[in-house]
Amino acid sequence: MATVTVKGGEALRGRVDVSGSKNAALPIIFATIITRGESVIHRLPDIGDVRVAIRIIESLGARCERSGSSLLVNTERMTFRRPEDSLVSAIRASTYLLGASLARFGRAYIQSFGGCDFCTRPIDLHLLACHSFGADVGGGVIISRGLLGAGIRFPKVSVGATVNALLLAATAKGKSRIENFAREPHIFNLIDYLRSAGADITVTDDAITVGGRELVGGEVTVEGDPIEAGSYAALSALTGGNITVIGVTPKSVDAFFAPLTEAGAVLDTEEGITLRTLPKRQVTIVAEPYPGFPTDLQPISAPLLAAASGGTVEDRVWQGRFGYLAALASFGVCYHAYPTSAEIFPSRLRAADTVAPDLRGGAAALLLALAARGESRIYSSEIIARGYENIEKKLRSLGAEIRIDD
Ligand code: EPZ
Repeated sequence: MATVTVKGGEALRGRVDVSGSKNAALPIIFATIITRGESVIHRLPDIGDVRVAIRIIESLGARCERSGSSLLVNTERMTFRRPEDSLVSAIRASTYLLGASLARFGRAYIQSFGGCDFCTRPIDLHLLACHSFGADVGGGVIISRGLLGAGIRFPKVSVGATVNALLLAATAKGKSRIENFAREPHIFNLIDYLRSAGADITVTDDAITVGGRELVGGEVTVEGDPIEAGSYAALSALTGGNITVIGVTPKSVDAFFAPLTEAGAVLDTEEGITLRTLPKRQVTIVAEPYPGFPTDLQPISAPLLAAASGGTVEDRVWQGRFGYLAALASFGVCYHAYPTSAEIFPSRLRAADTVAPDLRGGAAALLLALAARGESRIYSSEIIARGYENIEKKLRSLGAEIRIDD
């Protein structure tokens, strides 16, 4: 178990170059399974979840070689096996094995898929995708005797189920049409990779159409992480500092800044992104699928609201994603949580010790520790490193007094 110790209260300044996006990198790593050949993934972040994903595909016979921030993956000799339960249950992205393994081997195991434990995380839409392409689901396994192109309209938008439908459609026999799909930038990053491996994919406002084919190795660069970018931008305003965030497309973080600037926060996008001030008025946040406010930045926004004039946060993606607020309360954050929303009140922040509740809740606690004057400790902080590359080094370069003990 790691512990972060921080002496907070200093204005942090400097430039921070965001790493490749976790949620873009993970589907691409699993997508290599459906290709036969060598793929290269550039700007791959060296974070906990990515390391686990690499171990999973290696355990199935992929040969992976890291060179700087690039990863070379050779999937020529992969064979069907049950991946180790302890690896599968360590990350949520292991759900991508359902589509990838079924597409490559005609079989997949339904295991206990992991990830942050902030809500019930069903897999019915993933199974619906598998079933739609002609696979039989039951008894802990999914079996197909040849995937067939299909038309699927998801009853609810899901990033993970959209990824699995794409993996299945890309190699199924014939044409497929996927409707009511997730439009997050990382879905398009996955599509870039699949196209480079030979996939025939067209996206319109209404549907993704896919012509199934045999795929060979591809090459792709992972886009900058909008959640990491938003986290460092929030830190700038929280510490009264001047942090310029580079390496991310401003469009991918627009939705995060919109309610903050509407409530009077000053954002500078001249050379990179700098959130110069806290919001002046109460903020109203509603987290929704892209292009809405990103749910993964919902916990990150709570410290901003508490340090400013407060506001309300509603999450329409993960309706009960407010458990993390109990950890933030140690830092003085005052709130009232309802089943699908929370009210956050203007709060006097103080240094504290707490346990990181999950990845983004842990990151929110770290922001508060850096903003509050005095020494704070966050226990079980390894969960934060699952999604933020080189966090200690990056924060130190901005002037933070931080130490991580394993
Ligand atoms: C991805 O999770 C991300 N994880 C999450 O990021 C992110 O919060 C989420 O997308 C939404 O943007 C990864 O990319 C590894 P969903 P995913 O399927 O794919 C419901 C982080 O902190 N649903 O889009 O699991 C579900 O309950 C993590 O980086 C079903 O009902 O999310 C939720 O309400 C946390 N049935 C909604 O859909 C299903 O079969 C969206 O979930 C699947 C999902």
